[in-house]
Order: sequence, then structure tokens, then C-alpha cells
Amino acid sequence: MCGITAYKGKGDASFVVMEALKKLEYRGYDSWGIASLGAEGIIETVKNVGKISSHTETGLRQSSVAIGHTRWATHGGVSERNTHPHFDCGNEIAVIHNGIIENFDELRRELGGRGHEFRSETDTEVIAHLIEEFSSLGLKEAVRKAMERVKGRSAVIAIKKGYDGFVAARTGSPLIVGIGENEYFVSSDIPAFLDHTKNVMYLDDDEMVVVEKKPVFYSLKSGGLVEKRLITIDWSADQAEKGEFEHFMIKEIMEQKDTILRAINQNDSEIQKIANEINSSFGTFFTGCGTAGKVCFTGQYIFSKIANKHVNYVNSSEFPNYEHFLRPETLLITVSQSGETADVLEAVKTAKKKGVKIISLVNVKGSTLDRQSDHTFLINAGPEKAVASTKATTAQLAILYLLAYATTGKIHEGKNLLLETASKVNDMLNPRYLARIEELAKIICKKSDIYIIGRGLNYPMALESAIKVQEVSYIHGHGFAGGELKHGPLALIEKGTPCIVLTAKDDVFPQIIGNAMEVKARGGYIIGIGPEKHGVFDYWIKTPDVREASPIVNIIPVQLLAYYLGVLRGCEIDYPRNLAKSVTVQ
Ligand code: M6R
Repeated sequence: MCGITAYKGKGDASFVVMEALKKLEYRGYDSWGIASLGAEGIIETVKNVGKISSHTETGLRQSSVAIGHTRWATHGGVSERNTHPHFDCGNEIAVIHNGIIENFDELRRELGGRGHEFRSETDTEVIAHLIEEFSSLGLKEAVRKAMERVKGRSAVIAIKKGYDGFVAARTGSPLIVGIGENEYFVSSDIPAFLDHTKNVMYLDDDEMVVVEKKPVFYSLKSGGLVEKRLITIDWSADQAEKGEFEHFMIKEIMEQKDTILRAINQNDSEIQKIANEINSSFGTFFTGCGTAGKVCFTGQYIFSKIANKHVNYVNSSEFPNYEHFLRPETLLITVSQSGETADVLEAVKTAKKKGVKIISLVNVKGSTLDRQSDHTFLINAGPEKAVASTKATTAQLAILYLLAYATTGKIHEGKNLLLETASKVNDMLNPRYLARIEELAKIICKKSDIYIIGRGLNYPMALESAIKVQEVSYIHGHGFAGGELKHGPLALIEKGTPCIVLTAKDDVFPQIIGNAMEVKARGGYIIGIGPEKHGVFDYWIKTPDVREASPIVNIIPVQLLAYYLGVLRGCEIDYPRNLAKSVTVQ
């Protein structure tokens, strides 16, 4: 997590970096700091606890080189002392870092033993002191040698007093180089510099870039030169802005009018090819984290329902425990908006060791997962900035439907269902619909718990609903399979406890209504979501009848409800406390 960025060029470097950090704030927003190389080659610094968005000036003098960091705390509390950049003993080397140094305790003791003085509780600071030890070799070699000592996934950028440039290295956390006209950027994510350039080069693991005149890439292991490919990104800067909306989350929910259509605009023969591979594989695993994981779990039901086929869902952080079931004929399908989630990348590493083929559904073109996969389906949702995933979710689901239908040779039937679904989502997202959900939010916004139940295809979406409610409104949301309630959770229901019931016109409708009745009999306040009204509902939110595609339409009102609950409760909608958009640490 954390966002890091660096700039060298004709602009006012610290200002450019400050603006870039605002675009990276979704990665971490506990505190921020910038270091720039002042006129005499002296390093000047600014550090602040809190968010950067309200700042308009850095207070630093104009310069052509600067680095900046927006923090999501891991080692050491949120304080100015722990805010990056961190320095060596002589304040001549400044370092920013995204990741975790697994052997930091050992390095800190070792460096302390050699007389290095530490001024923060962070793991990052050891890098500054390690670079200091090798500094007679020049900044490039010093960074390379320092990174040889550091274990874990990291991305690091360093500047040095008197050195007119910067050096960046990657050992697991993302770093992208933006190539402008006589100006260069390095950043954890592309939106940081989209205003300036769409031409990028990706650093892979164990690579570094030295930006003096123009970027030169090296292998971290050998120190030898590395060739990189220039990629042009097709996102526009506007897509990454809020526009007329108050928050990215509501903008991105509303974009689902288009994004489902964009997602299914895939090459049919590629979909068919992968579907054939699923049919002939020795087991297919789906993996992802958080919301993407719930999409994978829905995938298990989608394949069962549509293709009568068993696929395995495993949460990425648990995937290494399934290593023994993997063969070269196994297929791993990963789902990730960012393509940078550490647990997903680790799952890929585990699978690759066993010769497994990797297929990915990714939103960010050129992300690590995209580059590590044998085949990628880009979900084409455009930049998703709010920490709460919304439009990526429905786009990912849509592609899983296509794949499932294709395994039965009926890809066109699947496409037609999704076209119908996309058009009904378009109708659904109207001002009256939004107002009805806002009205519900007003009724339940003071409650401390919300339960969500579903069955069959809508059970994984009950789990996803809970994530939305938790992260956006800070209300305790909990999702269950409808049938599980009476095995324990029913004890939690009191008079007025809200319980959302996800329904569809399907064969489990009578059972889920039965579960709703059980909750109602204990005083629960029943919120029905689905195409059919029922007497047990205290409040009903209609969703269109799209048959097997009900998870797509049912999750949207929950996204909206979570949004309005968060607004009414005064929460930080786009940047929930303690969370970050890309979880690049395990
Ligand atoms: O970028 P990814 O899709 O791999 O991210 C996975 C999760 O971290 C993400 O879905 C997270 O659960 C969201 N905050 C949920 O809204």
C-alpha cells in the first residue's frame, strides 16, 4: 500500500509531486511527505500528518527533482516522525518506500551495531542507512547493494544530496515510469502522471531505473542494462477525476450503465479458447481477494448453474495451501481490479511453480498480474479510484458469465443475457431509484449491525454486500447463506435489526423467503432486494428479472445503500479508515 512518486523535469518538481500524490491518495492517506533537491543540491523536506488533498503549496523552493510519499502505516504509528521520506545519518540520502521489509528487525540491529542512528519506527529507514553504507559506489550501485540485503516486496525511490536525478527499484511492489517530453515520472500507479503523459514503461520485479538525463533500466541482480517496451495507456485524465459527482464511489456506481457493456466487448474466439481449456483442464481454480474473491466465489455458482461444471474458489491468501492439488494441466483464473494485490501475485507464484497456466481478469493494463499471466481479459472498466470496488465487480462477473456460457458452446446466449442485463442496469440507475435507496439509508443509518442473506448464486453476493457496508459506512455488516442463520447467527437478531434478503426468480426463492420469515419472527426489519415483492418485506428494492445474472443487478442497490449510509454517517467515502485501494502487502 502507500503511494510513491518521483519527478525529474522542467516543471516545479515538488509541486508536480504534490499533485501526483493527490492522485495516489487512495493507496494510503495517514500522512504525506516530499523531498526535493534544492538549488545547491541540498535536500529540502516537507512532512504532514493527514491527507494531502487540502494542500495547495509545498512550501519548498522550485527545483527539478523531487520524490513524494503518501502513507498507509505498517511499521510504526501515524506520526510526523514516521512519515516518509526517511534519511541516513547525515541527512544526505532521502528514501521513500512502499512495501514491507521482512528482515527489518535484523537489519536495524545490525546497522545500529555499526553506529547508525534511527529516528523513526519504520522499516523503511533501514534502506536509507544501507544506502549510506554503500554510498561511495554512487547512488545507483548503493541502491542496488542495499536492495540485495532487503527481504520482502518493496518499491523504493532514493535521492542524494548533490545528485541531479533519482534512482528507483522494485522487488515486488508496483512502479511505473512515465515518459514525458524532457520530463520523467516514476510512480506506484499511472493516474499520478496521466495529466502529463500516457507513455509508460513498467518496471518488473528485481529491476531498477536511474533517471538522470532520461530513464535507464538495470537488473537489480546483475546490474546489467535491461531493455523496456514503451506502452501507451488508453485511459484519459478525465476518467480518473470525479467530474460532477461528489465522490468517486457514486461516479463509479453510476458508470455501471456502460461498464458492463464494455466488459463483454471481448474477443469471442479468445473467450471460447479459454472456455475450451477450462473444459479440458485438470481442475480449474478461481482466486482473488476481498470483493474480487467474492466474484470468484460467485463464479463457482455461475459455472455450476450454467455449465453444470465444478470449479474451485480459493481465497488468494489461502491458495498456497492448495499447492498439492496443482498439476501442469490445472488452470488458475485470477480476478483483480488492480492486478497488484500481493496475495494474488503470491498465488500466481505458487501455481507457476507447478507449471499451471494463468488466466487473469484485470482492470489495469500492464499491471504485474497482467504481465505475469498467460492470458489476460481486460475488464475495461476504466480507472476505479474509490477504495470500495463497484464497477470492477460487475464487469468481472460479466466476463465470468461469458466464460461459463462458452464452456457449454452457448457464448451467444450468454452475451444476449448480459446485453439485456446491461440495458436493465441502465434503466435502473435513475434518480427515483437512487432516492428510494437513500430513503432506506435514512431509516437504518443509526443501526449498529446489518445482516445480509442469500442463497445459491446470491449467497456470495451476500458476503460481498457485507464488505460494502463495512468499508463504506463502518456499520458491522455480516453476510450469511440463508440456511445457516438458524445454526447460530439468528441469536443476533433483535427487534429492528436490519436484514437484507437477496432474492431472484429462481428455485431457491421459497427457501430464502422462509429464512426471511425466521428473521422477521424474531423482530428483524426485512429489506428485500429482488424482482418480486413479498409480504415479509418491510422495505422492498426492486431489481430487474435477469434470471441467472441476478448477482449483477442485486449487488448494485447494496453498493448504493452502502454509499448513502456512509454519507449520512459522515464517513470518508472514497478513503475508508485503515484501508487502501491496492493491497500490495501480504
Ligand atoms: O485490486 P484487487 O481487485 O485485487 O483488490 C482486491 C481487494 O483488496 C478489494 O476488492 C477490496 O476488498 C475492496 N476494497 C472491496 O471493495
